[in-house]
Order: sequence, then C-alpha cells, then structure tokens
Amino acid sequence: MTTAKTAPPPIAMLAELTHRCPLSCPYCSNPIEMALQEAELSTETWTRVFQEAADLGVLQLHLSGGEPASRRDLTDLIAAAQKAGLYTNLITSGIGLSEKRLRDLDAAGLDHIQLSLQGTDAAMADEIGGYRGGFDRKMKVADWITKIGFPLTLNAVLHRRNLHQLPDMLKMAETMGARRIEVATVQFHGWALKNRDALMPTLEQAKETTRIVTEARLRLKGRLVIDYVSADYHSKYPKRCMGGWGSTGLNVTPDGQVLPCHAAQTIPHLTFDRVQDRPLADIWYNGSAFNAYRGTDWMAEPCKSCDRKTVDFGGCRCQAMALVGDASATDPVCQKSPHNAALQAQANTHAAHDRASFFYRSAPGKTPAPTE
Ligand code: SF4
Ligand code: FES
Repeated sequence: MTTAKTAPPPIAMLAELTHRCPLSCPYCSNPIEMALQEAELSTETWTRVFQEAADLGVLQLHLSGGEPASRRDLTDLIAAAQKAGLYTNLITSGIGLSEKRLRDLDAAGLDHIQLSLQGTDAAMADEIGGYRGGFDRKMKVADWITKIGFPLTLNAVLHRRNLHQLPDMLKMAETMGARRIEVATVQFHGWALKNRDALMPTLEQAKETTRIVTEARLRLKGRLVIDYVSADYHSKYPKRCMGGWGSTGLNVTPDGQVLPCHAAQTIPHLTFDRVQDRPLADIWYNGSAFNAYRGTDWMAEPCKSCDRKTVDFGGCRCQAMALVGDASATDPVCQKSPHNAALQAQANTHAAHDRASFFYRSAPGKTPAPTE
C-alpha cells in the first residue's frame, strides 16, 4: 500500500465497548446489524488496544456504545486507559450509573463525561429514548456528576420532533454547570436513515436553529461552549466527515473491527481488520479500508478539480454510498453534486410527514419492529 506512514497518527479513538443499551433512540449511530454480547472484546484485549492506541499517538479516548455502562468492567477499562496515558471521555445516557459507580470511575481516573439529552422533559425524552423513567434517572445522574465535579458536556441530538426545545436545552446546560453542549442536528446514518420521515427537520427549523445557536454563542461566551452540527440536507456544502477519512480518528467496534468511521460497514466493498489479528498501528497506516479514501487521489469530478477538496474532502463517504450508491461520489449534500436537487426534494418530502412513527433501534440479535 503506497500511502503507508504518509498519514499523520490519529488523535482520537472511539471505543464502542458494547452495542447493548437500555435506550432505543431512533437515530442511534450503531449499525443495523449489531455485535452480540458474546462477541465483545474482553477486558484484557481492550487494555492491550488502549496501550496500542497510546503508542500510536492517540490522545483522546471516547468510550461509547450502545451504553458503555452496560459493561460491568467499565471501571477497570477506565483504569487501563488512564494507565496508558489517554484522556478519557465517557459518552453515556446515564442509565446504569449510580453515585457509587461514578465515584469509582472518578477514582479510576475518568477525565470527562458526555451526557446525552433526548429532550428537556420526561414526556419528550422518554418517548425519544423509548425508555420510561429514563429522563428522571438522567437528572439524578447529572446531579451526581456535578457533585463529584466531573467536567460535563451535554450532547443533544436535535430533529424535527424536539428542535423547539433547544432554548430549554441551553438553559439546562447552564443550570447543570456544563462546560459545553453539543447541539447536533441529526445526521442520517444507520437507524436515523430509516427514520427520515419522523426526524427530518424543515428548512425553517434548520434556519431557526442556526439563529438560536448564533445568538446563544454571543450571550454565553466564556460560560458555555456550543458545538454545532447543522442540518445536513439543508446545507450548501457537506461536512468534513471524520475530519477527512483516515486522517484524525478511528473507531473500534465491540467485536474488534477497526473502522475509519462509525458507519463504514455500510460500504460493502471495504474489508475491516480486527484488533485480534493485527496491531492497531499497522491497521491505521496500511489497512486497506483506511487507505481507500485517504487524501484526495480517489476523488472524481466535481471534487477532483474543486478548490474545497481539502476543506471538506468531498463530504461523507457513507452518505454518498447510502444516497448515490457510490462511496467515491461527491456527497449529495454538496450543491455541486448532480444529485443535490433530488436530495433537496427528498428532504422536503421527509420533512412534510406530519407525525410518522419512530422505527426504534432494537437490542443486538433482536429483529427491529416499527413502533407508534
Ligand atoms: Fe466539497 Fe466536492 Fe463539493 Fe467541492 S465538489 S465542495 S470538494 S463535496
Ligand atoms: Fe462514514 Fe461519514 S459516516 S465517512
């Protein structure tokens, strides 16, 4: 492989510890085919992988799932990551965490917590998460996080059904003493792609969200950092997905597959190496999946001759695959894509659905079913 060692080392690694989760959010980024508990990596293997990641140059380790608290060895895993010298960020719904468990995680060296927010009241949050009592539990967990003194980021996924709650979400972040809030308009991969009728924001909502975020950034400057992911289908240009393929981060699935992004398994011609078979550094530099769309050599027109090609790297490969059927095509979110007009029309059609049912994510190994 000719690009060996020409890539910089990754900065961040996402460790998907498990696909198990008590919640069933209809925009879950987990794949439709999830890894079973029996296939999950052991504590020992994760410990080795964390050390390999640190040796490779990774600085930040994001521990997610599913729900990472579903792993009984979570405290041991945090301790192992801390020992490897990684900055640890736990991405959690809060369900499965007690005050005692949080104190154990603190003692093990956990650096930061990112708490997901499905809505600002129990009716909304429990409906979106498909888990009754989840909101009240989350509020308790937020209190414990504050009491213990973890740096906290709230992570709100916004869509047509909850976008009106954004002002209250910002207030909640302030009240909880969060340092950041990630305001992420839903991106249509995995389960969200199945739920476009229910989740697609209208163009007016997308514009209003940008207005609210712009105003709040000024008002809350110095108190709360707002990271913003705007509504994808309503943008002029696509996102620089993953910072550029194989450039800054990698994902490890619960069963050990190493992916350039969380949705890479939707690109059928790629094959993925496993941490059980090959050292992480070798996978990063020489793995065929990582080199497939690294840099700009793979691009066709219009990206090939575009002056933004090193700005957004042609957008998202998985979105091009899902919507155009070709992972090397220009992301159709781009106004220069020949498929952009069709995408805009699709967005309007999805957004016009009055109250489509959610198609909730299911548990690993279970067949999903549409739910009212
Ligand atoms: Fe980005 Fe390609 Fe669109 Fe240019 S043509 S803005 S590189 S997606
Ligand atoms: Fe795979 Fe964007 S999610 S490249």
